[in-house]
Amino acid sequence: MLARDDKNEIADSADAVDEAISTRRSVRAFLPDPVDNETMKDLLRLAARAPSGTNMQPWKAYVTRGAVKDRISDAILNSGVRAEKIEWDEYKYYPDKFFEPYLGRRRTVGFALYDALGIQRREVERMRSQHDRNFVFFDAPVGVIFTIDRRLNKGSWIDHGMFLQTLMIAARGRGLHTCPQAAFAPYHKQIRPILNISDEEIVTCGMAIGYEDTSKPENGFRTERAPLEDWVTFLGD
Ligand SMILES: Cc1cc2nc3c(=O)[nH]c(=O)nc-3n(C[C@H](O)[C@H](O)[C@H](O)COP(=O)(O)O)c2cc1C
Repeated sequence: MLARDDKNEIADSADAVDEAISTRRSVRAFLPDPVDNETMKDLLRLAARAPSGTNMQPWKAYVTRGAVKDRISDAILNSGVRAEKIEWDEYKYYPDKFFEPYLGRRRTVGFALYDALGIQRREVERMRSQHDRNFVFFDAPVGVIFTIDRRLNKGSWIDHGMFLQTLMIAARGRGLHTCPQAAFAPYHKQIRPILNISDEEIVTCGMAIGYEDTSKPENGFRTERAPLEDWVTFLGD
């Protein structure tokens, strides 16, 4: 299926770039409409234009769909490992103990998602079910798993992140939406044999890619950003 016209009617390139950046958001319910491998190749080629220290290009991507994607979902959902028991044994995405201002920001987005879905604060089972939706890539037709060579240093993780953002912006340019998904990282043991990922690679995250299902409440809220005054310092004349 081609990118939707309404998402592509952007006059000049500054507008187009701004529009792609500002309309990127994490979408958590997708339509079944397919995204073909030619489109995925275009997106990945563009994403690989991201800069990296000494052009090392520290990223690998495993693009899954159909039966292979389902095998990943099954392996995780039937792994018997509950979400609250998972181990971030390869890398820690989050601090061991949250503190401000990060704790407040994290809570805000969590509550916004649960409010949109009508999930009350104590409905742990419903929260868990929503978290598990990660593992079916929120029903997106394409699920990508990303890895980085474990011998690389923190600098390469900066590059890896830039690659991911470039991919998400390129997807917006084609009317597609995405959700980056660190939720996959702790399940690397389940994912590795299915995708034949070598021990040298760390699973950094997954990504759902497809067309947004605008009828779903989980896509109905927008996240905010802290005002510039909170985090920018202008110095000099
Ligand atoms: C590397 C990365 C991993 C993320 N992992 C998840 C995830 O596993 N599940 C999820 O629902 N959202 C995930 N998110 C989405 C964030 O919650 C989201 O980016 C943030 O709340 C800001 O909202 P926005 O993306 O809609 O602007 C992740 C984001 C990033 C950048």
